[in-house]
Amino acid sequence: MPDIENSTIPFNRVEAILMRYGIQADGTATPQWISTSRLQKWTLLKAAFHKIIRRIFHKNTIDGQQEILKSYDAQWKKKAFSRYLPRISQDGAPWVCGNLKWTISNEGGAAIRLIYLEEALQHLKPASVLEVGAGNGINLLMLASRFPETQFFGVEPTTGGFQTAKSVIDAGQLPEQLLQFAPFPLNDLSAPARIRITQESSQKLSFDTASVDVVVTSLALEQMELIRHEALTEIARVAKEWVVMLEPFREVNSTGIRKAYVSTYGYFQGSIAELENYGLKVEKIYFDMPHKSILGTALVVARRIR
Ligand SMILES: C[S@@+](CC[C@H](N)C(=O)[O-])C[C@H]1O[C@@H](n2cnc3c(N)ncnc32)[C@H](O)[C@@H]1O
Repeated sequence: MPDIENSTIPFNRVEAILMRYGIQADGTATPQWISTSRLQKWTLLKAAFHKIIRRIFHKNTIDGQQEILKSYDAQWKKKAFSRYLPRISQDGAPWVCGNLKWTISNEGGAAIRLIYLEEALQHLKPASVLEVGAGNGINLLMLASRFPETQFFGVEPTTGGFQTAKSVIDAGQLPEQLLQFAPFPLNDLSAPARIRITQESSQKLSFDTASVDVVVTSLALEQMELIRHEALTEIARVAKEWVVMLEPFREVNSTGIRKAYVSTYGYFQGSIAELENYGLKVEKIYFDMPHKSILGTALVVARRIR
């Protein structure tokens, strides 16, 4: 049985990523951190106000799945892999980890999340992994290059995300920018050719029951609040042994500004406690991982019980 109970993520791995982005994390909030936090709160306040107005006039207040996918489609079409080149910049979102605070770009944040996903797979040693809601394939590309013995699958419903990932898979090798972005040593540079990605939604996965060792989601359930039950049912169905979820679970967004943020934007509100309703027995929770200050995330490793 994999030794996941005793696993921890040494913070020096996160610090090494931060250094590549010119960030020194300490307990003090930089002027940039304070001003971006204020801006986020102000934007949230405006969004909450609009939501109330829409509700008063009986208009739909939550984006439907189609709106969410349309917005991601456009986003992935715009986002070139050149943005993943680590660079020193003041831009980004305010992040926290315990009492540490820093500002980092979305791509820097993706590098931090990858360390946590890699750590989980390192312990589980799966023969096959499926990422649900794979976006532009950044996690698949990095993790497949890290774990040459593992077969990686991905599903992504948007054309923009699917085609961006597919372009690298078809090329059969990582672009230079992603070689430089890699947050850990890569062991197989021709890994993209091994990845299988399909364009589909988590609402009905084309995979057989219990057909992949590990199902992974990373900020993907986040976008599936309206179909939470269907998505969790399908994820649990296809998982043979484990489900690894790096998501904004209710337990880490239950108060204050984070609660307001999740409810205003209609993000995932599922709880870690409810996972057992899907046959998922939680074995490990990383509550202490770094995340955006306005949206908590936890990494949950759950065993599929049948
Ligand atoms: C925040 S992005 C995360 C992408 C990727 N997992 C990552 O870590 O970079 C959320 C992704 O979930 C996808 N998504 C939204 N609804 C989905 C659904 N019903 N089925 C599968 N993926 C979905 C979106 O298209 C988007 O690519």
